[in-house]
Amino acid sequence: MTSGIRHFTDLSALSGSDLRGILDDAAKRKARLKAGERSKPLEGKVLAMIFDKPSTRTRISFDVGMRQLGGETIMLTGTEMQLGRSESIADTAKVLSRYVDAIMIRTTAHDRLLELTENATVPVINGLTDDTHPCQLMADILTFEEHRGPVRGKTFAWTGDGNNVLHSLLEASARFSFNVNIAVPEGSEPEQKYIDWARANGGKVMITRSPEDAVRGVDTIVTDCWVSMGQEHRARGHNVFLPYQVNSDLMKHAKPDALFMHCLPAHRGEEVTDEVIDGPNSVVFDEAENRLHAQKAVLAWCLGA
Ligand code: CP
Ligand code: NVA
Repeated sequence: MTSGIRHFTDLSALSGSDLRGILDDAAKRKARLKAGERSKPLEGKVLAMIFDKPSTRTRISFDVGMRQLGGETIMLTGTEMQLGRSESIADTAKVLSRYVDAIMIRTTAHDRLLELTENATVPVINGLTDDTHPCQLMADILTFEEHRGPVRGKTFAWTGDGNNVLHSLLEASARFSFNVNIAVPEGSEPEQKYIDWARANGGKVMITRSPEDAVRGVDTIVTDCWVSMGQEHRARGHNVFLPYQVNSDLMKHAKPDALFMHCLPAHRGEEVTDEVIDGPNSVVFDEAENRLHAQKAVLAWCLGA
């Protein structure tokens, strides 16, 4: 962040204390909202949102979050902009920076996010790329701590595909000092650089083929779809992933009060059974709600509100 602009690209790009500050702010803003307080610190500010992939939660929570903070949003898709007719990301970044106060982008290749960030003169927020999903992890840590207290020293298990959400979970594990056990089938491993970075920054990461070994005694089990948006070329047969399904048998190996977490959308009957996602330990809708509160704090951090 040499430019002094507060981009929110990845959890690895921010310090642990900045991230903790954002989470503390999110919890306070959530409490104040529930108490009926309505302050408008972003009045007059405009957030441009670019979506190169579909979204329900990210789109609506950023839109509602900006409105609650007194700001406004402009919703854009890559295909309806000149971006879709080969205007460069760099030029798009420079143009948007003349109009709006911040840019949120959900896109494919992570390099597109980085190119936007390098060329924008306003804060850029990562709303998911093929590689990472940092806003999701901010909401997830907020959710975990609401239910189980400080995340430091706790253990999360991930079972399924080694995808963008897992990469951000690995980054979060180092920044918030918790452990991650990963069970993935051969060929679905997370990118090694995320494991290496987490370990180099104090994270404790265990990786195995056995979902039972990964979830034994953990505080929460996390999973996600078996095929991410735009990753259909990596799609594996469902029989490869079925042993990694989170069902009540697998949950029994975790702590009795272990939480079940999922960023949603869920593919019920695939990565998780109805019994688990609708069960008493599931916090998936709290995670979805907390996207709103966490991202309001991210917006406030980026815009100095
Ligand atoms: N979890 C999440 O990012 O959901 P959407 O794809 O609906 O935004
Ligand atoms: N891993 C999923 C997350 C969706 C919110 C995807 O990228 O499609």
